[in-house]
Amino acid sequence: MSAGDLTLFAGGSDWSPSSWRAKPAMHQPAWPDQAEVEQAGKALHDLPPLVFAGEARALTGLLGRVANGEAFLLQAGDCAESFDSSADSIRDKLRVILQMAIVLTYSGGVPLVKVGRIAGQFAKPRSSPTETVGDLELTSFLGHMVNDIGFSEAERLPDPRRLLTAYHRAASTLNLLRAFTRGGYADLSQVSSWNREFVATSPAGRRYSQMADEIDRALRFMTACGVTAANTPQLHEVEFYTSHEALVLDYEEALTRVDSLTGDTYDCSAHMLWIGERTRQLDGAHVEFLRGVHNPLACKIGPTATTDEVLTLCEVLNPRRIPGRLTFITRMGAGKVETLLPPLLRAVRDSGHPVAWACDPMHGNTYTSSSGHKTRNFDDVLAEISGFFAAHTACDTWPGGVHVELTGDAVTECVGGADDISHEDLEQAFETLCDPRLNGRQSVDLAFRVAEMLSARH
Ligand code: PEP
Ligand code: CO
Repeated sequence: MSAGDLTLFAGGSDWSPSSWRAKPAMHQPAWPDQAEVEQAGKALHDLPPLVFAGEARALTGLLGRVANGEAFLLQAGDCAESFDSSADSIRDKLRVILQMAIVLTYSGGVPLVKVGRIAGQFAKPRSSPTETVGDLELTSFLGHMVNDIGFSEAERLPDPRRLLTAYHRAASTLNLLRAFTRGGYADLSQVSSWNREFVATSPAGRRYSQMADEIDRALRFMTACGVTAANTPQLHEVEFYTSHEALVLDYEEALTRVDSLTGDTYDCSAHMLWIGERTRQLDGAHVEFLRGVHNPLACKIGPTATTDEVLTLCEVLNPRRIPGRLTFITRMGAGKVETLLPPLLRAVRDSGHPVAWACDPMHGNTYTSSSGHKTRNFDDVLAEISGFFAAHTACDTWPGGVHVELTGDAVTECVGGADDISHEDLEQAFETLCDPRLNGRQSVDLAFRVAEMLSARH
């Protein structure tokens, strides 16, 4: 028997890293030259993994605690990462996530699992495959893994060499994240002082000064007791994981590896991978590919999802009922969540499937403002999270986390929040490559509000 025969696929003997190719694959780029795609795939296959199987297993363990109601998930980052992100921009995104994390950890009283939409979030499904300006119709922008955002024929043509650039950008982003999270940048007292700055400089922030004071007092108490960064690495370092939508399957297949320790197969492009709302067809290629890798998985669940579909996704993606293997990220829209979510929560609860539930309050609340910008209202984002908590309270299930699109850059893409951004302000710094993101101050504001909801659950 060869080593290959011993390989354990989560999907069983009828699965292989390429078995998705026999199924309909939605939202794949129309690559102009298939030979170039194969060449890029071979090159990727020969490159080192970006993450290690042991790390993905550790994340499954942490998400298992989320599924059991013992931890909370914060999954956050760009809608579409750019190949041109500067080191400062990556650092500032991490900084905002850490700021949110400390607030949520303090008030939630449970461990916080931190996962970035980062180091691989380079591909986007789009509502229309083409975009027309004047007489010119070109392929839509599909993320930097596929094409460029400029509106010319050359920039919009899908280019398979970008698959390799995506790998190298992911590798350098990951390297920076590993350095920042292990090298002292994530020091708790440092992160707390950033939050104090937010509280002091924002009118919305002032209402949180009590919580910020309490966090500082808790840190001073720990120092007085001799618990310091010098003797307690947890105060100084942070466990941070990566994730992205596993959309372009040529890329994901090429980064799939067999773990030498266990013989299990992992998609080593990120720790956690998710299936998007538009590619979660039960007989489709994305479900087929992901069911066979051992990473922790997530699946977006939108307003059209039925209980049957959701239960079948549990059976197909997590037949062995491993806690932490499957997270559902619901994105219903603020006005719908309280009616549409409870039937799904009850069905999954009654089936006994361990699922971690997270709320994406962004994608069900996007609209076009009179200025023509695709935007989101901070109050709608908050309302969807509040409805998510209410639905879980009604069903006696655990509101396990939030999934948000944000940036540390001072953009004006979403309306409302910390600095009360108006529709007129949107044009000042509307920089996103795809969907509107919360800026740093709106994100920290959101964390304080979610913290209030979390502490009310205790
Ligand atoms: C996204 O997360 O950027 C996205 C496209 O979301 P969804 O699949 O929920 O529409
Ligand atoms: Co998005």
